[in-house]
Amino acid sequence: MRTKKIADTFVSRTELVLPNDTNTLGNLMGGKLLHWMDIITAISAQKCSNRIVVTVSVDFVEFKSPIKLGEVVILESKVTRCFTSSMEVKVDVWAENLQTEEKRKSNSAYYTFVAVDQSGNPIPVNQVEPESDEEKELYQSAMTRRELRMILSGRMQPSEAGNWRKIFGI
Ligand SMILES: CC(C)(COP(=O)(O)OP(=O)(O)OC[C@H]1O[C@@H](n2cnc3c(N)ncnc32)[C@H](O)[C@@H]1OP(=O)(O)O)[C@@H](O)C(=O)NCCC(=O)NCCS
Repeated sequence: MRTKKIADTFVSRTELVLPNDTNTLGNLMGGKLLHWMDIITAISAQKCSNRIVVTVSVDFVEFKSPIKLGEVVILESKVTRCFTSSMEVKVDVWAENLQTEEKRKSNSAYYTFVAVDQSGNPIPVNQVEPESDEEKELYQSAMTRRELRMILSGRMQPSEAGNWRKIFGI
């Protein structure tokens, strides 16, 4: 197993919202955006693990403002932390209006991928080392998000979630 720089897992993608991507209000459909987010985050996870990866969970997706037909969508993703076979990947999305040059944050989300072998069984992944203050904060908080995911999916009892117990002082 290797230890990689988080910067080495960074991926950026730019898309133009075309008529087939929109609903009848001319807004980008959520499912289309989720598809782009799924692909870019999977590439980050593969750059980290050098393995086949599968999406196991997606959380904290919120669409703050509509993205309109003809606007540009910019997606950026990077691995925040690796566990045993799983990796958490953060994706940030911006919308840009090329007429007004207005660029606004649309949303961000955390995807969890699991590296699998040819039979689909989980296998250990490379680790990442955070360098910048932002990377260190995301690395640290990834454990708390993981615990929440484990609780919500029924894989962990709330009483076993050490980080949350610390937060609530219990
Ligand atoms: C991902 C998959 C291989 C995991 O299999 P599993 O039998 O649950 O394996 P394990 O219990 O050993 O868990 C493997 C890892 O997944 C993580 N995991 C499992 N369920 C999770 C969830 N709901 N959220 C976050 N992580 C999860 C575990 O924490 C573990 O991570 P770790 O090794 O880093 O500690 C299996 O669930 C699967 O194939 N899912 C379908 C994936 C898919 O088709 N994705 C596309 C969906 S459209």
